[in-house]
Formats: sequence, C-alpha cells, structure tokens
Amino acid sequence: MKKIIIALDGPAASGKSTTARLVSRQLGYIYVDTGAMYRAVTLLFQEKAVRPADVTENQVRLLLSETPVSLKIVDSVQHVFLGSRDVSEEIRSASVTAAVSEVAAIPSVRKEMVRLQQAMGKEKGLVMDGRDIGTVVFPDAEMKVFMIADPEARAHRRKLELEAKGQTVDFDTLLKEIKHRDHLDSTRDDSPLRQAEDAITLDTSHLTLDQQVAWIINKAKFFAEGSPDRLQKIN
Ligand code: DC
Repeated sequence: MKKIIIALDGPAASGKSTTARLVSRQLGYIYVDTGAMYRAVTLLFQEKAVRPADVTENQVRLLLSETPVSLKIVDSVQHVFLGSRDVSEEIRSASVTAAVSEVAAIPSVRKEMVRLQQAMGKEKGLVMDGRDIGTVVFPDAEMKVFMIADPEARAHRRKLELEAKGQTVDFDTLLKEIKHRDHLDSTRDDSPLRQAEDAITLDTSHLTLDQQVAWIINKAKFFAEGSPDRLQKIN
C-alpha cells in the first residue's frame, strides 16, 4: 500500500489520539499528536510565568528557541519534550488542560508548531491528529477524517479515562469543560476547528474503538490508491 498522510481532526475528547495511535500501529505509520505540542507550550508558559494575553511574537520565538518542543518515539510511544525534559505526563494535568485553548489561539505559537508539524510530514506514512491538520497543516493530505462525537459521549469517555488513572471527577464539570474548549477552539480567529471540505466524517458516539480503527484502515486503502472518485467510492 502506498504511504499517505492521514489527517485526523475533531473536537476535544472525540477519541482521536487513541484511534490515531492504533491506526498508525496497524499501518506501520508514525503517529503525531499535535495537541501534545500545544500542551507543552502551555506548560512552558506556565513555568516561565508568561501570560498568554501579553506575550509578543518575539518572546514566543525566543522561548521556543531556548526550550524547543520536540517529539520522540520511546518504546514505540510518542513522548513530548521541552528541551531535554520529557513532559509527556505533566502536559495532561488539569491546569494545562484548562489553559491550553488560550495558548493554542496565539498566532505566533501556531506558526512555530505548524512549521514543526509540516517538517514531520516530509516523509509520508503519517497519522497526525489535531484541529487544523486537514485545513492548514496538510491541506493536500491524501486522507482527511473529521471525527465527532456528542459532548455527553466525550465527557463520559474522558471520565472513564481519568478514573482509570485513579482520579475522581464530576461528569457535569467535565461536560462543561469540553463544551467550553469546543467553543474556544472553534471560534478563535487563527485556524479554528472546522471540517475540511474534502474530509469524511466519522461519528464515534456509538462506535467501539475497534470499529473506529477498522473504519479508518478500510478507507485508507482507497485513499492510498489515489482514485479520483475516492469520495464517491467510500461514502
Ligand atoms: O487534542 P488536545 O485536547 O490534546 O488538544 C489540546 C488543545 O490544543 C486544544 O484545546 C486545541 C489545541 N490544538 C490546536 O489548536 N491545534 C491542533 N492541531 C491540536 C490541538
């Protein structure tokens, strides 16, 4: 099968990263979680006491050249680094989660992250998940999936995920947070969350993880063939 770029976009907690990880493993592709990159920048801002509302483009450039964000595969799993420090765990904290949408809305932050992401796509054979992969980062990606799920299903999944890590969380609080992040991510000026015209929709509200993965793998075969009537074929 020819190697392609699979762009996987969608709102928070729609199941993108788990699905993307499994798809990439089955296809022998590299998986890139771009949300993790924005989370790492958010952690950096917090540690350096940088206020997102006041930061200038020069400060962003300087901060990220002193402490670059990078991704490395450790034991087949993507890890995120700030400089030489592995921050993969820290970026999942509630305080980073609460602040990340504001940081991800800063144009100079996006410019730096998009540049890194595009460099990773030079070699095809990549599954990248985020909010703007099919619209901005790889507008020419061979396959674009827009993954959605109703907010209640997403809050329920996030609750189970956090409980599995031993954290107790209130469902209504999670639901409120998810809706708030959806709002911020889809109404920002720079690269808002939106479905690319040529993306296919995958509603995961009532699908199991295995079904989601199989759905994507199955369709990836058509996209890799590069058939001109690909959309008709798969719908
Ligand atoms: O997927 P996630 O929840 O880890 O993403 C964290 C935040 O980063 C999310 O609020 C939106 C933002 N993000 C973005 O703006 N663009 C991307 N390509 C990926 C994430």
